[in-house]
Amino acid sequence: MTEPWWKSAVVYQIYPRSFADSDGDGMGDLRGIIDHLDHLAGLGVDVLWLSPVYPSPQDDNGYDISDYSGIDPVFGTLEIFDELLAGVHARGMKLIMDLVVNHSSDEHPWFVESRSSTDNPKRDWYWWRPARPGMEPGAPGAEPTNWGSSFGGPAWRYDETTDEYYLHLFSTKQPDLNWENPEVREAIYAMMRWWLDRGVDGFRMDVINFISKDPALPDGELPMGAAYGNGATAFLNGPRIHEFLHEMYEQVFAGREALLNVGEMPGVTVEQAILYTDPAREELDMVFQFDHVWVDRGPDPWILQPLKLTNLKAIFGRWQAGLAQVGWNSLYWNNHDQPRAVSRYGDDRDYRVESAKMLGTVLHLHRGTPYIYQGEELGMTNAPFAGIADFRDIEALGLYAQAVEQEGRSPEDVLTVLRARGRDNSRTPMQWDSSPHAGFTSGTPWLAVNPNHVEINAAAALADPDSVYYYYRKLIDLRHTEPAVVDGDFTMLLPHDEQLYAYTRRLGDTELLVIGNFSGEAAKADIDDAAAWTSAELVLTNTAAPPDDLTLGPWQAVVYRRKLSR
Ligand code: NOJ
Repeated sequence: MTEPWWKSAVVYQIYPRSFADSDGDGMGDLRGIIDHLDHLAGLGVDVLWLSPVYPSPQDDNGYDISDYSGIDPVFGTLEIFDELLAGVHARGMKLIMDLVVNHSSDEHPWFVESRSSTDNPKRDWYWWRPARPGMEPGAPGAEPTNWGSSFGGPAWRYDETTDEYYLHLFSTKQPDLNWENPEVREAIYAMMRWWLDRGVDGFRMDVINFISKDPALPDGELPMGAAYGNGATAFLNGPRIHEFLHEMYEQVFAGREALLNVGEMPGVTVEQAILYTDPAREELDMVFQFDHVWVDRGPDPWILQPLKLTNLKAIFGRWQAGLAQVGWNSLYWNNHDQPRAVSRYGDDRDYRVESAKMLGTVLHLHRGTPYIYQGEELGMTNAPFAGIADFRDIEALGLYAQAVEQEGRSPEDVLTVLRARGRDNSRTPMQWDSSPHAGFTSGTPWLAVNPNHVEINAAAALADPDSVYYYYRKLIDLRHTEPAVVDGDFTMLLPHDEQLYAYTRRLGDTELLVIGNFSGEAAKADIDDAAAWTSAELVLTNTAAPPDDLTLGPWQAVVYRRKLSR
């Protein structure tokens, strides 16, 4: 069997709203992406993933879809989409779409019908339930279960039309679809086939491990002091999830070649990921796990935890080992839901360029398919949000209200966490140049541009041979040209070291050594063979070659290659 193409591919995520605005309305659009395709082709990426561009009330920036088979006028038209797809393909790249089918918008005609009466044929397409027995419908605490929504508040909304509640694990405008109903599944599969027939190359599937729910909908455990119970055991990797994904495979993907299907899966374990990505089971190609981006999350969400490098290494080590024989990893630091990695795990003040390159090195040379989020290739940083009024994200605003108004937290404590971890950090407009709105728009941007665009921008990066952009290009080239990066065995070194992240990759007689210094202090890599390694080929470093005892400078990264005699 030939290896799937995506094992040596690198994916680039575009958040269209914040990428490039061609018509001055302050919001990015498809034409803006077309205008910048050469930036992406020049970087060398193989696949573009588009966050949602479908018609949407934009309650959650397009993750609330009101028509699965169209383009929101704010982004363009289907004709412009076809032009974009042709432009991507003409440059030898592929394009995957965001598939958001755990929920739709409440303005989707399916939900409009469903909500209209209890005997509407689409009633059962969503999760409707009466009030808790003995409680007055609509009264506080009368929700059918005690679950909280991810964006704050209860996961149920009372609807007067029929005196019942509907389930929404996210915002009230994102009602959950009922996958138990075969008509729902068939409608979704038909829509997916329609996009594939149009030429798209696969899907990134939003919270896809939430689609199968235990129909009993039991109350969740209620942590001390929390306003809501945790319903996750009833919907995370639920009872029919594997059946649904295999059915999707058969109905949509079977017989089509060259697709890439990746499932976003908060809370997925290594053992479950093996099942999801074992090719023999015909479900998905890879999943996004969350363990490494939850590494600095403590028991109290409103108290920031520093990164403990040994924990991060234990997580990646476990995933690398777990998927070594069967299944495949996705590798990412950033996306539209995460703060900027260089601000979170690096040093965005004194060593921004060095630490951005170090983070890229350590991530990309693992076994798996790396994902780059727009602006990561420039070393873009978190934004300086002064107060809650500067945030736009429904999650930040909802959790702030819940924490401050319902749970009595101090606004300043909550803001401290949102500034460091809030999703708007990654959503500030792409920084193309040093002009007033960073070349993103000629109008007023929907979310303020980071003032540091004067220094950090694509034009400056392209003019500087030592930029993060050109370094990322080398990392991508290395994946394309060095088979050990794609297929080599992974061995974690120095698991107890709190400064250095070190590992080897080995394929046949080729061995790579990768080391990254996660600190602003010099650190010696105390590994066997240190001196021998320093005389091996230095494939990549973000500063100067280290001395014979492998002492790495602040935020330094090195990649060596040697041939082993058998
Ligand atoms: C995960 C998406 O990445 C996020 O942006 C969104 O808010 C939720 N799913 C709900 O669709």
